[in-house]
Amino acid sequence: MIDIETLIRPNIRALKPYRSARQDYLSGVLLDANENAFGSAITFDGLDLNRYPDPFQTALRSRLAQLHEVQRENLFVGVGSDEVIDLLLRIFCEPRKDAALILEPTYGMYRVAADVNNVEVDSCLLTDDFQIDVEAVKKCTKENTKIIFCCSPNNPTGNLLNRDDILNLCAQTSAIVVADEAYADFAQAESLISSIGQFPNLVVLRTLSKAWGLAAIRLGYAVAHPQIVTYLMKVKSPYNINILTSTEALKALVNTEHVQKSVAAVAAERQRLVRELSTFQFVKKVYPSDANFLLVRCTEARLLYTQLAQRGIIVRDRSSEPKLENCLRISIGTPEQNDLLLNALKELEQ
Ligand SMILES: Cc1ncc(COP(=O)(O)O)c(C=O)c1O
Repeated sequence: MIDIETLIRPNIRALKPYRSARQDYLSGVLLDANENAFGSAITFDGLDLNRYPDPFQTALRSRLAQLHEVQRENLFVGVGSDEVIDLLLRIFCEPRKDAALILEPTYGMYRVAADVNNVEVDSCLLTDDFQIDVEAVKKCTKENTKIIFCCSPNNPTGNLLNRDDILNLCAQTSAIVVADEAYADFAQAESLISSIGQFPNLVVLRTLSKAWGLAAIRLGYAVAHPQIVTYLMKVKSPYNINILTSTEALKALVNTEHVQKSVAAVAAERQRLVRELSTFQFVKKVYPSDANFLLVRCTEARLLYTQLAQRGIIVRDRSSEPKLENCLRISIGTPEQNDLLLNALKELEQ
């Protein structure tokens, strides 16, 4: 079985983390953190904001652990999953020495975060139906490959990656395999979270930004082996999750009904959009989607993108990505928004 410890950068292994004031005591006569004892300039939901928040995010991590039927020690929360992606690179990849492998076309932040950290990025293409070519990935995996990013459902292609392919990479490589499940709530498939006990090198990323509808509060999380969570806790900034975010997240996480309703509404509109979009002459292919967006291959994506923008409808042109020539990514909107999109397209077709 893979030894996580050997994958950690030596300076991180040796790191003495910052000790923050709130680690030992969260209540009492708090004269330890140079806060303003006279209160905050504003309150939030009647809550004073003058104290630093819990650096361990105990309540929030417990609730998320309960939701996914894992232990709190398996849970790390970040300022969006983007923060977790950055921290993973910083923990495992020595700048200018180690590499991260991405399976393109995929979410652009993996490359940006690696570039920011001066970590080499290797790219292995997905197959024509946007699945993992396991043999090709293994060939692309070098001795210095420390992280492989797998996005499932994949952004911007929308499809789930084959679960067994991801697990094969966990079993057959000595890298950290990140399964980014930002859009998993929209898919009818079992989460890879159930495999973290079996594979200590598997890190599953989730976010409240999509199905939970909470992109504005910036909360994402990793579910992984406790050893990885411990290192994430060591390298994060002491109070990364602010109290407004954690309070609202805790309130929201009770409302699983909102997720169910959103997922059902997205599925219905997704089905309608697939059907209707396919009828336009300038649409060559609408790809099947397990997410809350569609990948659409057009005759002239850039032109269509501009024409839609001129009508106030903003989609994403993904044409510059490998294998995505003339492809737009269109988020599933409300029925009214989707009607506006379809009407604009009808106008453009005349
Ligand atoms: C695949 C994927 N992962 C992660 C993120 C970032 O999510 P967060 O808002 O939690 O930082 C996104 C955002 O679009 C995404 O598409």
